[in-house]
Amino acid sequence: MPKKTLKVAVLGLGTVGSGVPVILQEQKDKIEQIIGMEFIITKALVRDVKTKKELAQKYNIKLVLDIKEIVQDPEVDVVVELIGGIKLARDFIKEALNARKHVVSANKDLVATYAEELITLAKAQSVNFYYEAAVAGGVPILRTLSSSLNADGICEVLGIVNGTTNYMLTQMSQEGKTYDEALTSAQELGFAEADPTNDVDGIDAAYKMVILTAFAYGMKISLDSVEKQGIRALQSQDVKNANLLGYVFKLIGCSRKQKAGVDVSVAPALVSKSHLLANVHHEMNAIFVKSAGIGESMYYGLGAGSLPTATSVVSDLVEIAKNISQKKIGVPFNTYETATKFAEDTQIFDKYYFNIELHSKKGNFDQLKDLFAKAQVKIKQTIDQGTQVLVLTYKISKEKKNKILKMIVDESSFELSSVYRVFD
Ligand code: HSE
Repeated sequence: MPKKTLKVAVLGLGTVGSGVPVILQEQKDKIEQIIGMEFIITKALVRDVKTKKELAQKYNIKLVLDIKEIVQDPEVDVVVELIGGIKLARDFIKEALNARKHVVSANKDLVATYAEELITLAKAQSVNFYYEAAVAGGVPILRTLSSSLNADGICEVLGIVNGTTNYMLTQMSQEGKTYDEALTSAQELGFAEADPTNDVDGIDAAYKMVILTAFAYGMKISLDSVEKQGIRALQSQDVKNANLLGYVFKLIGCSRKQKAGVDVSVAPALVSKSHLLANVHHEMNAIFVKSAGIGESMYYGLGAGSLPTATSVVSDLVEIAKNISQKKIGVPFNTYETATKFAEDTQIFDKYYFNIELHSKKGNFDQLKDLFAKAQVKIKQTIDQGTQVLVLTYKISKEKKNKILKMIVDESSFELSSVYRVFD
């Protein structure tokens, strides 16, 4: 007979950790009806017992300061890691897996960096390691990719997977705020951390794209192989230009697969106002998937926050309970694996927006057009703003884009203000 109660220990009772007991209590009847078991949070690892006392009393959770009290407790079935960061979280998860506890984590930095090690360990120990909340918080994208879309051939995953930067870009384009004003506002609302580096430099989104690439194509890639550009250098003028041209700036995580291989990047891009992703505003997240069978589909929701993220965490607990009752052990979250192959710059095609300053208007505009022709870059549209010229191209290879960029930089009559990808 399978166990009727699964005992859970939570590492960290912060924003997400404090949401887990709430969801388990609110959805208790539904969960028990589905899995025929109940979850009880018996222990929580915290740094400071005093500040978490009230919450612990309310849900009858024993607070502990030492991980050993959890991993050495034979009663604990599942450990939920919600402390974030890499080093300590990795050590704790390894201790838990080695003690044959199932593990749930919401830690994208850790999963993107050490998934292979942790998945191998979980398999060896015949336990489950799940991490739905690691990408886009409350949006159930990983399970959708690994289960619902398992019969579909995915060729493109475009994600707005960082709520902080999406909030900031919305403030810049809808409210006319500067980058600094938008960042202050994001910090006041608690979206951005005091040190927002990972958000604004695209690192947080890149971690998520590493995980999405593994689930979409079965390819293991490292953070270093994701080309990253954040929103720090984005100028208000480019945001205004985009708006005039019928586009909106979004920080786009892009993972595409073609025969030649994958290309994965994170960068601000102009997204056509008619694209579904252009309507993903404020702190919302969305993942737009192109696939052979379904065609286009989009998964939208809150990418952070206590209850949305805790809901994904609890859905992992439910999956683990199902596996236990079906006697399925050591089943990886994502079982799809193929050899990793990267596309070359000559095989990656995109449309681009160039913002170029002409040192003198006279003659320079024609010279600029000649330069594009020489690089065999087809221009779709130019917008003459005096000594500032905007150029929208047709699809060109990344190799050609780099070629024209170098030509512009080398030519003393011009100065490149910015270049961004365009998604129609
Ligand atoms: N800093 C992240 C964001 C939190 O803004 O989306 C969720 O991963």
